[in-house]
Amino acid sequence: MRERLEQLKAEALEQLQNVADAKQLDELRIKYQGKKGKLTEILRGMGGLSAEERPVIGQLANEVRDAIDAAIGGHQERFEQEETERRLASETIDVTLPGRKPKQGAVHPLTRVVEEIEEIFIGMGYRVAEGPEVETDYHNFEALNLPKDHPARDMQDSFYITEDLLMRTQTSPVQVRTMEAMSGEVPVKIICPGKVYRRDDDDATHSFQFQQIEGLVIGKNIRMSDLKGTLLQFMRELFGSDTEIRMRPSFFPFTEPSAEVDVTYRKKGASEPGWLEVLGCGMVHPRVLEMSGYDPEQYSGFAFGIGVERIAMLKYGIDDIRHFYNNDERFLEQFARR
Ligand code: DAH
Repeated sequence: MRERLEQLKAEALEQLQNVADAKQLDELRIKYQGKKGKLTEILRGMGGLSAEERPVIGQLANEVRDAIDAAIGGHQERFEQEETERRLASETIDVTLPGRKPKQGAVHPLTRVVEEIEEIFIGMGYRVAEGPEVETDYHNFEALNLPKDHPARDMQDSFYITEDLLMRTQTSPVQVRTMEAMSGEVPVKIICPGKVYRRDDDDATHSFQFQQIEGLVIGKNIRMSDLKGTLLQFMRELFGSDTEIRMRPSFFPFTEPSAEVDVTYRKKGASEPGWLEVLGCGMVHPRVLEMSGYDPEQYSGFAFGIGVERIAMLKYGIDDIRHFYNNDERFLEQFARR
């Protein structure tokens, strides 16, 4: 037994001398000192020893164990130290390097235009309303005097979700929702900015998703001249006090009469300003009033729908609608407030 212990000690110490890393060290510890290790195995045989031999062998076994422990401990310390040094080296920070400047975000140009337009109308006593982007066929078309077979639905190729639900093609359904919520009360005076969707192929002037701002006013004796005065005031606040507007007869199923509105716009380098179309409008159709609970004999109103991208393109001289949606930082950062 003595020999086996001596031999074990010699073998363990030799193997420990050549240990290469912490993993190997751990394997050796288990091999010699573990519960099923070699030393334990030998000590199990001590029951068969005589009373004189037992303390002698016991002491020797302790010595062997201590010697192996000491060797393991020494290596362990060395490995830990090496690991610490490695980490310190790899995690060193050069505090003398210049820092990275955090990038400052910018308000998106469309958001900026919407906010500016909201400010102008709030200043004229309007409230900002909201409506869902997933809309019922009834609110998007039917209640705006566009029954199922109406040919004007073709102008707005739509993304249908079910027979009866679609991505709204215009913000006009918010007119209907507002009238329903106000249940016959006046005055109604709202604008509603929001996203709308149409099945269009994207190009420089078309996008399958774009933004509109709807306006609706209902009260007693609201006339076409109120509409024109409101829009002129709005355009002058937005584009400058020398701005003129012009109304051209047009058609929308939910207004009668209907008009399209052009503003004077001076192209870069041009000597004379030209006209550019920016919105559709009209007097709310009596049937539209009636369907949403307003008596057209008592009340009248006007409505308008502004194309937000159009306005932003004019205001900032942007020539392609896709710039708004490509999220190119070089484009967007031009709108950062510095
Ligand atoms: N909804 C129309 C469109 O998307 C725009 C519009 C025209 C809105 C006339 C109105 C309006 O409120 O009175 O083409």
